[in-house]
Amino acid sequence: MRVGVLTGGGDCPGLNAVIRSVVRKGVQEYAFDFVGVRDGWLGLLKNDVVPLDISSVRGILPRGGTILGSSRTNPFKHEDGLQRVQDTLASHEVDALVVIGGEDTLGAATELSRHGINLVGVPKTIDNDVSGTDYTFGFDTAVGIATEAIDRLHTTAESHMRALVVEVMGRHSGWIALHAGIAGGANVILIPERPFDIDQVCELVKRRFEINYAPIVVVAEGAVPKAGQLMVKDQSLDEFGHVRLSGIGEWLAQEISARTRKDARTTVLGHIQRGGTPSAFDRWLATRFGLHAIDAVKEGDFGRMVALRGTRIVRVPLADATAQNKVVDRSLYEEFEAFYG
Ligand code: F6P
Repeated sequence: MRVGVLTGGGDCPGLNAVIRSVVRKGVQEYAFDFVGVRDGWLGLLKNDVVPLDISSVRGILPRGGTILGSSRTNPFKHEDGLQRVQDTLASHEVDALVVIGGEDTLGAATELSRHGINLVGVPKTIDNDVSGTDYTFGFDTAVGIATEAIDRLHTTAESHMRALVVEVMGRHSGWIALHAGIAGGANVILIPERPFDIDQVCELVKRRFEINYAPIVVVAEGAVPKAGQLMVKDQSLDEFGHVRLSGIGEWLAQEISARTRKDARTTVLGHIQRGGTPSAFDRWLATRFGLHAIDAVKEGDFGRMVALRGTRIVRVPLADATAQNKVVDRSLYEEFEAFYG
């Protein structure tokens, strides 16, 4: 059997660990052949496919990024996309694909699987917002990086007695903000799932100053204020209701400064959360996902995604996993609110 491997969407730490375990187990235990698809779905549209063997995956376990490259290309947004994907697979005699991706990449995989392409999905994203799995790999590394940043920001904030706003990734979900915010001892955590009240945020910040502590506010990039609370001039909302231009972190610092009359600054962590070496947990999870994904290929159990449930790796229908994002549920957030509020 010949198996293609592709990584799509935003990169995240642990992608190489999956590629390595898929290829090693596939070659050693099942005598499969492999090819690597370059740059996610784009490689199948452009017929950009490279050989992949045990020597290509040697030494990549601790390396961030992906040796195959990635893109956000969706084959269904291209004319003849489906046909071009099918043609590329046929020309390289690929029998099955292991697709490593987040919501968009796995969404396209679900569609392709409905059109008869044999594939198995592996969930990745630092955002942890893929349904059906307790965790995606990449998340633990991102939370570790964000937590370390918050620890560092505490000491500089205290030295100048100013508020520090830390903007973390998370367009649709606040998992990174919630976990890193709790681990880093933030005073306020703002997530996309729950529009926030800027008056209340400033009140919490003020209270913190009153007891001589410098407040730390952690905000997910997709968090939004309640309707009607955007007051800074020249700001507007994008199609999702997110603050455009400078971003929500910058907006918050401006509002906090204006309303509390205290200095406030913003740190946007950005792609630092996605780069570099994966944590031990992410290597462990990614490796196990890879081993189970190639087992699913061997068994011909296609149209499924490997997932973590407790400590077990299970398989779930891809269509279920991609039907909607996994968001932070109310009770988890309220646990934090009750503690700090
Ligand atoms: O989906 C993962 C993610 O890191 C999001 O948290 C973030 O909004 C987005 O990717 C950034 O994407 P890009 O690197 O394409 O700007």
